[in-house]
Amino acid sequence: MTQKIIELKNVSKSFGNDKVLHNINLDISNGEFLTLLGPSGCGKTTILRLIAGFENPSDGEIFLNGEKINAIPANKRNVCTVFQNYALFPHMNVFDNVAFGLRIKNLNAEEIKTKVDAVLKMVKLENFAQRKPHQLSGGQQQRVAIARAVVNDPLVLVLDEPLSALDYKLRKDMQIELKELQRRLGITFIFVTHDQEEALSMSDRIVILNNGNIEQIGSPQQIYEMPQSLFVAQFIGEANVLTGHIEEVQDDFIKVQIAQSCYQFHYTHSKLQKNDKVNVILRPEDLQIYLDNAEKTHCLSGKITNIVYKGATVDLRVALENDNVVTISEFFDDSRHQKFVVNQTIQIGWADGVEVILHDT
Ligand SMILES: Nc1ncnc2c1ncn2[C@@H]1O[C@H](COP(=O)(O)OP(=O)(O)OP(=O)(O)O)[C@@H](O)[C@H]1O
Ligand SMILES: [Mg+2]
Repeated sequence: MTQKIIELKNVSKSFGNDKVLHNINLDISNGEFLTLLGPSGCGKTTILRLIAGFENPSDGEIFLNGEKINAIPANKRNVCTVFQNYALFPHMNVFDNVAFGLRIKNLNAEEIKTKVDAVLKMVKLENFAQRKPHQLSGGQQQRVAIARAVVNDPLVLVLDEPLSALDYKLRKDMQIELKELQRRLGITFIFVTHDQEEALSMSDRIVILNNGNIEQIGSPQQIYEMPQSLFVAQFIGEANVLTGHIEEVQDDFIKVQIAQSCYQFHYTHSKLQKNDKVNVILRPEDLQIYLDNAEKTHCLSGKITNIVYKGATVDLRVALENDNVVTISEFFDDSRHQKFVVNQTIQIGWADGVEVILHDT
């Protein structure tokens, strides 16, 4: 079994009368890349601050490597933090920024040099040791911030939106670098981001938070393909939600009455029964437009309201007859997509094999 490095047991946090975390239970494995994701104000930073020791829980217990750490101050925890704004010392060069924590620990100069040189090499900044932060790009400053944390050999690194200040291209590069660095170091990363694509692509597991509660914990694939609530389905990726009631349940399909018509969907995990009200959730890539009526098996009729070219894919917004608006994402094909125009009436459907997501309402 993998070793638990961090455990939160029934952790709650209030500021004055305002309870911002409710009974959080979370186990984090050693070496894991765990991401906290959720809307602004849901409590992500507060969880990081509790783990790092900058806040105390109002209730509950926090364990690091099996030891209860509620009463242990931040500087004795072996947890390091990388802040969003990097918080580098502007008057110190890169080497001194990274060496700072080791000097506080009274390591000798030779040891400090060996360690700092090694981490600067790891983050590919060995030729920048003498530069001041203002002489570095955003991505380089970001790597100094990581080097400064990693040099202390922390058990856990907490990173609060460390990439959010970077432009798109640099951000993509840093995502890959950061993930590789984490793999090489084997350090547990607890990462906060607002960017769901970043969360999906970097994490071993994602924790979805809503209003100080955990909505779901799972691998990126579990979160995307099997969201346990409508909130999660709509927060991660785009969700087309069709509301109706169940007409028939079989082992591998379900029939749902939506507005005036009955539709069949592939579905294998049903605990639902006839007449239950349900939300049927279809991802944009699960839907397709039928040009030729002969193709259609089960389809909805609607009008195209918007066509968005995205390079490899194209997103089509379609207003259905029952007033729902859905988004359909298809691989872009010039000859096919030339035929679509705004206000055109079309039929949309879903492939037989596509398993829908179903939640009772
Ligand atoms: N020191 C504090 N005093 C009072 N309230 C606080 C304090 N710190 C955080 N809060 C409140 O706790 C809630 C959670 O805040 P937190 O910073 O953890 O959110 P977040 O998920 O990190 O949001 P964001 O995505 O905007 O960074 C918010 O309602 C916030 O106003
Ligand atoms: Mg925050």
